[in-house]
Amino acid sequence: MVFTTDHDDGSWSVVSQCRQSPPVDTTAPYSTASLAGKTILITGGASGFGAAFARHWAKHGSHVVIGDVNDTLGHSLVADLRSSYPSQSFHYQHCDVTSWSDQLSLFKFALANSPTGVIEGVVAGAGIVDMDNGFDSPRRSSTNPDSGPEEPRLKVLDVNLTGVAYTVHLGLYYLPKNGTRSDGQQRDRHILLVSSIAGIAPLPGQTEYTASKHAVMGLFRALRGTSWRRGVRVNCINPYFVDTPLLPTSGVAILAGAPKAELEDVVDAGTRLMADEGIRGRALCIGPKLRVYDDEDGETKLIYAEDFERVEAFVWRYIGMINVMKGIAGWVGVVKDLWGIYGLGGKRGR
Ligand SMILES: NC(=O)c1ccc[n+]([C@@H]2O[C@H](COP(=O)([O-])OP(=O)(O)OC[C@H]3O[C@@H](n4cnc5c(N)ncnc54)[C@H](O)[C@@H]3O)[C@@H](O)[C@H]2O)c1
Repeated sequence: MVFTTDHDDGSWSVVSQCRQSPPVDTTAPYSTASLAGKTILITGGASGFGAAFARHWAKHGSHVVIGDVNDTLGHSLVADLRSSYPSQSFHYQHCDVTSWSDQLSLFKFALANSPTGVIEGVVAGAGIVDMDNGFDSPRRSSTNPDSGPEEPRLKVLDVNLTGVAYTVHLGLYYLPKNGTRSDGQQRDRHILLVSSIAGIAPLPGQTEYTASKHAVMGLFRALRGTSWRRGVRVNCINPYFVDTPLLPTSGVAILAGAPKAELEDVVDAGTRLMADEGIRGRALCIGPKLRVYDDEDGETKLIYAEDFERVEAFVWRYIGMINVMKGIAGWVGVVKDLWGIYGLGGKRGR
């Protein structure tokens, strides 16, 4: 790799070598036209973000292949999509992302069922939390008290890291085989990673989840330096708390009444990254809608997603949110709620 001094102060930069695109203006309009006819594979697509992406992208003409462990939801979503958009292709296959052979089979299944025989988009969406895994409080083995602590349950790392790594590896293998379109242009090759606010800030009590989402950011940061060589663009979303089945407590006192992020904003951010083929190597944070005063044009804009370039601003909002929680519930309420959510004590949130 050649390093150039393309900063004004003469310092070294690899941005241009990595082909990273400029920061995303999330308030600017974008076209969804490129979604029509694309085949997109979504792991964890039976529920939550993945299912919402599938529904939205189907509306814009995409073909979708879903892999998930929730067969009931997966089959019913596909049946729904087939009846709404009969001229497009929708498929579901059982896939436990922690199994290499399941994922390999899912990618082959997607290629076999794609109307064009290729895949243009991959979403590594499958993810879990494990509220009571006791990672931070090792317990003496109940079967053999002399043998030290019990083996920790690391299912979250299996799904959120190993599973994502398998998806990425397969994406890097199969996407570059997708060739050119009828107009001679190279087909899009896009991997969308799903990290979290927990990928950039700690969630106390959810150590394993935080580690897994930081790991996804590690994958993202490293990959965006190399994936361009295979013509693959890699982007990432970092949503704040959103009401989906992921969180067993759902809306229960999460943030003690403070705002959450909206599913529609996650879908919008993911759609922008999937549809705009010029966006490469970018991560978007999706938080509660906030009104932000824009110095440049003197307008107050509604912002839902913040380019990761300005992540510090988002972290400040995160801290600000905690302060809002404090204002609403008082510190005692906040601490009680967090303990309930993170399984550190009490029964709340179970
Ligand atoms: N909801 C939030 O607040 C939030 C915030 C930030 C990031 N995320 C991330 O977004 C992603 C999607 O979560 P969601 O909120 O849509 O939750 P969700 O539970 O609705 O969806 C997750 C999907 O993954 C599937 N899944 C779980 N284990 C699997 C496995 N081993 N193999 C295949 N599929 C599996 C589930 O069956 C489910 O369909 C996750 O990676 C999650 O960590 C969620």
